[in-house]
Amino acid sequence: MGEKGREISKLDHKWLIEGLRKAYAFEWVVHYYASLASNIVSGLRTPVYAEIFKKAAEGEFGHANRIAKRIAELGGEPIETLEEMEKLAGFGKVKFPENRSDIKGFIEVFLKMERHAIALYEELSQKTHGKDLVTHELAEDLLAEEVAEEEEYENMLKE
Ligand SMILES: [Fe+2]
Repeated sequence: MGEKGREISKLDHKWLIEGLRKAYAFEWVVHYYASLASNIVSGLRTPVYAEIFKKAAEGEFGHANRIAKRIAELGGEPIETLEEMEKLAGFGKVKFPENRSDIKGFIEVFLKMERHAIALYEELSQKTHGKDLVTHELAEDLLAEEVAEEEEYENMLKE
């Protein structure tokens, strides 16, 4: 990020980069698990849900890259190792249903992830409000997407 760009971000950049790295790590974790789900889900509705999870994986990957761009602008770098990624994401153990055709079981895992993401971006939006408008816009944008995704998963559970 250029000189003026840095100057208008009135937050401790180290703190901000750390928060963004955490979000980046979490997005990668969700990306991985959504991709895995699309490959292991089975049963009658496999084609539909494999596609839904594949799309979700792509979406989260997109989020991760948007965050990485902001980290770079602030002079930081994302996480280097996958091991660190899972630790920093702070989501804990992910357990998919043993019955791979238990679609609702899969969806419940992703619903929990969406709610984690909502809390994360809500906090980031609040803390950057009026202090770092670029990060704030990004956090708000991602927050809106995660909120919409939460609702989609909730609706799928009602099917
Ligand atoms: Fe996301």
